[in-house]
Amino acid sequence: MTNVKVNSVAKTYGTTPVLADITTEFPEGSFTSLLGPSGSGKTTLLRIIAGFIKPDQGVVMIGNNDVTDVPVWGRNIGMMFQSYALFPHMTIAQNVAFGLERRGIKGAEARKEVDRALEMVRLPGFGDRTPKQLSGGQQQRVALARAIVIKPSVLLLDEPLSALDRRLRQEMQVELLRIQRESGLTTIFVTHDQEEALTLSDKVAILDKGRIVQIGEPETVYEKPLTRFAAEFLGDSNFLTGTVENGAVRLADGSVVKSTSALPANGSTVTLAIRPEKMAITSGDTADNSIKARITTVIYAGPVLSYHLETADGVPLKLFAQNRDGTVLKEGDEISLGWSAEHTVAVAD
Ligand SMILES: Nc1ncnc2c1ncn2[C@@H]1O[C@H](COP(=O)(O)OP(=O)(O)O)[C@@H](O)[C@H]1O
Ligand SMILES: [Mg+2]
Repeated sequence: MTNVKVNSVAKTYGTTPVLADITTEFPEGSFTSLLGPSGSGKTTLLRIIAGFIKPDQGVVMIGNNDVTDVPVWGRNIGMMFQSYALFPHMTIAQNVAFGLERRGIKGAEARKEVDRALEMVRLPGFGDRTPKQLSGGQQQRVALARAIVIKPSVLLLDEPLSALDRRLRQEMQVELLRIQRESGLTTIFVTHDQEEALTLSDKVAILDKGRIVQIGEPETVYEKPLTRFAAEFLGDSNFLTGTVENGAVRLADGSVVKSTSALPANGSTVTLAIRPEKMAITSGDTADNSIKARITTVIYAGPVLSYHLETADGVPLKLFAQNRDGTVLKEGDEISLGWSAEHTVAVAD
């Protein structure tokens, strides 16, 4: 088990900065997701850690070793990508043994390690088959066995599950987490799937345009987003903009919204983020905050009702409500929403 650190890592292609001064740490034995939209630099950061790409500046540390100038094969890294490309003409055992052979491990010792890895991914006895005798999900497991058989210091996974259908993906998520916990491997997992990042990770790092805008435990990142981008990319969010006045925020319509966040100085403009499930339909002024809105769209999704709303000032809002008693409100209905100051988070734009 080893921790990974990147210090002031930057990469520019031509004149386009792809990673801008990234400094962060992936603690020993932890599972960290790099979450961000396409083009935010996730793969580039992972490939810099792996050694496929040399950063323009900065340092990559694996354990106590500065590996910035160490080639890929000297870094003892296990890797798995979306296109896991098993060698079709080789057996499963030969595929898994590939990395061992390159490290000079052969014969009975190699067989023992291959069996152990296949057991870990729950494919014991599959060694003599060829890849085309396996389902897509099973091939994915073989690719994972191939990555972990070498007992890497670090496991790097670049959207390994995104080609799988939903059910298989969920199954593999559970397996991946089990294997990570059993092996204790420091794991860095690239995904653009927010649910996957939240459910699997000890820590989620949100990337935007080559920067880590926030890194933290899933709950912290979700409940207390630091920026508008983080609030929008990880989950859904409502935004209200107003002016700070005596420790609260006055909206354009004159109403006042309370927040437990630290607010900037009086007179500053501030954006508040409120998760749609934190708002509730209220009849009186029982909550810290309330606002009136008109329903513009009703989305019936079974257990959850999703309402799109608009305030008198034309601010769009979303509300997620549990379908407790089967009551479905209608488009055009005027409602009052209430929510707490604690769930009103000041975010940077
Ligand atoms: N070899 C390259 N040459 C030029 N631009 C590149 C190269 N690799 C990646 N990029 C650009 O860098 C940005 C980040 O890419 P990438 O790290 O693959 O993002 P992600 O994995 O988050 O989708 C993208 O705009 C991409 O087009
Ligand atoms: Mg990518």
